[in-house]
Amino acid sequence: MRNESEVPLTDTPFNIPVADRLKRLPPYLFGRINKLKYQKRSAGIDVIDLGMGNPTDAPDPLITEKMKEALLDPKNHRYSVANGISNLRKEVAGRYFRLYGARLNPDDEVIACLGSKEGFSHMCLALMGPGDTAIVPAPTFPIHAYSVMLASGNVIALDVREPYKFLENVVYTCEHLYPKPKLVVVNFPHNPSGTCIDQDFYVELVRLAKKYKFLVISDFAYADICFDGYKAPSFLATPGSLDVGVELTTMSKGFSMAGWRIGFCSGNREMVRALATIKGYYDYGIFQATQIAAIVAMRHCESAVQAIAKEYGERRDVLVEGLNRLGWDVERPQAGMFVWAKIPEPWAEMGSIDFAMKLMEEAGVAVSPGRGFGEEGEGYLRLAIVENSQRLRQAVRAIGKCLKVEQAPAA
Ligand SMILES: Cc1ncc(COP(=O)(O)O)c(C=O)c1O
Repeated sequence: MRNESEVPLTDTPFNIPVADRLKRLPPYLFGRINKLKYQKRSAGIDVIDLGMGNPTDAPDPLITEKMKEALLDPKNHRYSVANGISNLRKEVAGRYFRLYGARLNPDDEVIACLGSKEGFSHMCLALMGPGDTAIVPAPTFPIHAYSVMLASGNVIALDVREPYKFLENVVYTCEHLYPKPKLVVVNFPHNPSGTCIDQDFYVELVRLAKKYKFLVISDFAYADICFDGYKAPSFLATPGSLDVGVELTTMSKGFSMAGWRIGFCSGNREMVRALATIKGYYDYGIFQATQIAAIVAMRHCESAVQAIAKEYGERRDVLVEGLNRLGWDVERPQAGMFVWAKIPEPWAEMGSIDFAMKLMEEAGVAVSPGRGFGEEGEGYLRLAIVENSQRLRQAVRAIGKCLKVEQAPAA
């Protein structure tokens, strides 16, 4: 269970303390906003929820039909294999080759996970321990830091909004920290800031990994959601990447299958094996019917992925243009499911948490405060483009009304 309050977890019955690793977690900063959202919803008040990157669109009917069929087959109700069934791993390797030209051996370079978040967390548990340090992106998608902390490792969060500066800071850290960082986590397209990179970034990252001897985890959750002809590069398409790291991908975003809990960790075989070892102890794999439906999804539903990316692109335009017509200064992200919006004057000094509370209370729009992604996120809001365009227009009107500003006419 997540600690939803702002008070850190302490003791259990009989004053028996929780493990120290739980006490290392900072308070959950989205708690207050979530509480208000649930209160409003239970009072029957409509909330436009742009808080979480939780898709509201249904998966392609081919996927759900296959799921229904697989559900009726009794043999799919047994424990499945912890690594994912062989045809699923082959499909993942096939998709990597089709989309990125990356060659993976499905036998030992691909493993299925209960969502990429599970794969990421358990990979950190497999790699990190007391005294080990990981560099993670800042602003920080919380699990990138918390998984390392839960594994008793130390975190250095480096700003990724200028990606090549990030690499310079990785070099600086490697040259000045002893022991050197063991792991560098990257996440492009980046949640929350929407920062994107080109393939050359990974060429340099692989070179640095080999020079300074660190491992790499690339969280590629938003691989499928790119706009305006941009194609997010895969870390695994970089020569030498299989020697130093792995990449996490997911069916949650591009295939709108977030609740199904299916993702993948692919790449360096020793790292994949370390994750497989941990998973072999902790779980019995993904529901087999889900795995079968996922095979069909990857084999036959690429056009649905492109259609959903187009839809997110249109929503991005509606939200960015709408906020800019309110006088905000919001950049158009090239990929991902979020608009990362600088809080306009005179509201910035209120702080992102209180400003997000105001939007929730007075406009009925739920957004994530930038501060929830670490200090580097202060001064920003993250708005997920998960509601349809009409609801996004409604959200912009409600925000304008709450801040008492008129929308400028459309250009
Ligand atoms: C950067 C990033 N990684 C991983 C995830 C989790 O994805 P999954 O549903 O595959 O666990 C998310 C979900 O929001 C995300 O934003």
